[in-house]
Order: sequence, then structure tokens, then C-alpha cells
Amino acid sequence: MSWELILTGLVFGWCLYYEVRRRRYKEEKQRKEMNRSAGSLPKGNWGWPFIGETLDFIACGYSSRPVSFMDKRKSLYGEVFKTHILGRPIIVSTDPDVNKVVLQNCGSVFIPCYPKSITELLGKSSILQMNGGLQKRLHALIGGFLRSPQLKARITRDIESSVKLALLAWKDPSQCPIIFLQEETKRITFEVLVRVLMSVGPGQEMNFVKREFEEFIKGLICLPIKLPGTRLHKSLKAKERLLKMVRKIVEDRKMAMERTEDKGLPNDAVDVLLRDTGESNEKQERLPLDFISGNIVEMMIPGEDSVPMVMTLAVKYLSDSPLALARLVDENMELKRNKAGSCEEYAWTDYVSLAFTQNVISETLRMANIINAVWRKALKDVEIKGYLIPKGWCVLASFSSVHMDEGNYDNPYQFNPWRWEKTAGGSSVNSNTFTPFGGGQRLCPGLELSRLEISIFLHHLVTTYRWVADEDDIVTFPTVKMKRKLPITIMPIDD
Ligand code: HEM
Repeated sequence: MSWELILTGLVFGWCLYYEVRRRRYKEEKQRKEMNRSAGSLPKGNWGWPFIGETLDFIACGYSSRPVSFMDKRKSLYGEVFKTHILGRPIIVSTDPDVNKVVLQNCGSVFIPCYPKSITELLGKSSILQMNGGLQKRLHALIGGFLRSPQLKARITRDIESSVKLALLAWKDPSQCPIIFLQEETKRITFEVLVRVLMSVGPGQEMNFVKREFEEFIKGLICLPIKLPGTRLHKSLKAKERLLKMVRKIVEDRKMAMERTEDKGLPNDAVDVLLRDTGESNEKQERLPLDFISGNIVEMMIPGEDSVPMVMTLAVKYLSDSPLALARLVDENMELKRNKAGSCEEYAWTDYVSLAFTQNVISETLRMANIINAVWRKALKDVEIKGYLIPKGWCVLASFSSVHMDEGNYDNPYQFNPWRWEKTAGGSSVNSNTFTPFGGGQRLCPGLELSRLEISIFLHHLVTTYRWVADEDDIVTFPTVKMKRKLPITIMPIDD
């Protein structure tokens, strides 16, 4: 037997011994924790040494029913269970009431808990992982700006022009009539996002932001090793280059503001953050420029992929549901005719008051589960509905299992926008059982903007083209994507 084999055997044996000791220690600790609390640790299974139940978790993620991992354990152990995935013991909640408590106690009892590669890339003062007063301040500033009617009125024109430009290019007969929708929607929404955050328009600067940002986010889910040549290292370098550029935009804007003492409406998120002086007038505290630049870059993460994926999946679901598509086309054609008759421009309120279109968006958000869960860490022992979540443990509040549960939605795997009509009863876009945008103090500040963008896209798509979608599958691990980027063949409608 060669010495390499002996060495491998020794290392393996030592790892096994270490893992068995570690588990015994953990179980002992859990027993003590259970004794000191009235609640009890949820039931569940730790799975294999080292890997726990990760393989099954990932395999389900790649299947057509990603919530089957949760469903299997829910039937064995109940709505809240413990498991060991992605290198850590974790409590999974598929119970909407428990999820609500987790979301609403963010900051004081629960804090965000991301895989190591994500925390490395985000930076400590990112809104996505910061807690306390500064997170609240930033959330309120950005949320207030993104929800403001002034921004919506202005951004509606920008979204329309990005969407129309893309749709016009599809008409070019020299181009192949097959469109990869996932790519196209990404291009449209990225331009809108960068404009909202820092007013960069199409051109060289935009191309630079796009290139570096794509390199940056490749490292969000990777091995947390920072050595030169590794994925994480390359992503950190891309972030540095991006930050340098954004910092220059922020500095130039600050100088321009000081010169002109501009007090008009903010144009973008950079303006909003630069102008803020903090809560107290006696002790004015402006946000540092590095903090602003970092957060502008980090706020691109939740907005970049989510909106184009909802647009793409709406088209996918509609392609498979002719009745829903016909109803959507009718509603949008009527608006188009009214607008053409009165020669009026569209207002942002025209788009968001299209009732059936909004139902299509809600139903897509429910089924697509772009953000399928949030991860939190308990700062102290917490008991919710009799379940103990010990201090230091992670909780995964699963949205997808709530959205796909028969107890909450009839025929949950059926795309049915009519279920959102008030008269249908049951479902409500504000209920605990519908949380595509999260909830509590971290409720997505981009919620209304996202719905507006998707409405504008759907309106111009269905009033300009008919399409036939190729066969394609949805993949949900590590993030929601179409396997073939959803190829569609388009046919212009004769006006
Ligand atoms: C369909 C599109 C979107 C979905 C489904 C979505 C979903 C979510 C969810 C579930 C959260 C909560 C995360 C948590 O609790 O840890 C969140 C937070 C956030 N989202 Fe979105 N989002 C979308 C679009 C956007 C857009 C377009 C922007 C920016 C313009 C944005 C900016 C943010 C920010 C900054 C946060 C962090 C808020 C905080 O922690 O205080 N999102 N989003």
C-alpha cells in the first residue's frame, strides 16, 4: 500500500472522528438548551456526516418540484423542522405564522445570515447585512424614493423607451426572429436599475458597469477562498473597480451640489443619500461617501436578476395558459386603443391599474419564487408556536413552500391569475401566505417599482407581438433561471 493511501486513510479517519465528536458535542448542547427552555427543538434529521442533507436539498432544487425537499420533511416532522444543509445545522420553517414572526423581528431577535462567499462580497455596511438604526435609515430613504410618485412618473418614460427600443429591434428582418427572452429582459431592466441608482445612461460607462457587475456577482455563490485566481478573488477585484467608478460619480455629484446648492427633487439614489442629513437637526450626520458608493453597488444585487426573471417567467406561464394570455391581451389592447383615441401619454397609474395584468404579476411572483426564502440567525433563544430556535442557530423562512402549499392555494401548481380577483376570496396580496417581497422592516423597497416595470413590459409586448415559446425548463438552484434562456419566435401584430 503506498504512503499516499495511508495518508489519505489517516486524514479521512481523523475527519470522521472529528465529525462524530462534533455531533456528540452539538447534541449534548441541544439537550441542555431544550432543558432550559419550555419549547422544544423542532424534529428532523441531521443526515450524513459533513454534508448533512445537502445533496437531497440540491437535487430537489434541480428538479421540477424544488419544494419537494420541504414537503417530504414537513410530512415527517411537521411544518417546522431541523436539518443540516450547506455546512450548517438549520431550522426550516414552512409555516406562514412562524415566517411572519421571523420577518417582523429582524434586527432585534434575528439578523440576516448569508453564506460566507456572500458576506465577503457584500461588505459590513451593506444594507443587505447591516442591522439597527443605520439599516432603518437607509431602508426608509431608498424606499421613500423608489415609491415616490415623482420617480414613478419620470422612470415610466425611461422604462417605456428601453422596452420600446428592445421591441423595435426585434422587428429587424435581418435579425433572427428567435429571441432569448431571459437575456433581452435582463438588458432592459439593468439599464433602468442603473439609471434609478446613479443616472448612468447607455454608452461606455454603462457597458463598464455591466461587465464589472457581472464579474462581481459570479462570486456570490462560490467556495469562500480568497486566494488570487479563485472565483471569490476575481469577484472582489471586479467590485473594487466598480466601486472606484461609482465613488467618482458620487464625488462629482457632491461637488456639483455644493456649487449649485441644488434643492430640487432627487434624480436618483445617489442624490437621495448625499442630501440626507440624518434624523436630528442639532447633530447633522451625513452619510460617508464610501458608505454611499458601497451601498449603490450592493443595491444592484437584489434588483438585477429578479425583475427580468419575473418578466421571463410571466411569458413562460402565459405561453402555457392561452386563456390567461387572451384576457391579458384584451385588457391591454383596450388601454392602447383608449390612449390612441385620446392622444394622451401613458401615466404610471395607467399601467398599475390594469387589474388582470396585476393578477398575472402576482400569480407569476407566487409560482416563480425568485427569492424562495430568507436566512436569519437568532441573537437569543426564541420560542415561536412552541418551537425552540436556540441562540446562534440559523432559520430558513421558506416562502416557496408557503406559496406552493395546497392548504394556502387551491391547485398550487396551476397558473391561475383569476385566484387574485377579490371575489375569488382567500388569496390576498397582503397576506402572510404571499411574501415574494419579504416582510417586516426588510420588506423589499423595490416592490412598487418592480411591479411597474413588469406591467410596462407586458403591456408593450402583448400589444406589439404574438409569440410562440420553445420548450424550456425552469431551474431553481442556485437561483431561478430558464435552462435555455426561454427562446421565443415572435410575430409582429399588424396595427
Ligand atoms: C420582482 C422583483 C423583486 C423581488 C421578488 C424582490 C424580493 C426581495 C426580498 C424577498 C427582499 C427581502 C430580503 C430579506 O428580508 O432579507 C428584498 C429586499 C431588498 N430589495 Fe428587493 N426584490 C425585487 C426587486 C428589487 C428592486 C428592483 C430593487 C432595487 C431597485 C430591490 C432592492 C432591494 C433592497 C435594497 C433590499 C434590502 C432591504 C433591506 O434589507 O432593508 N429589490 N427584495
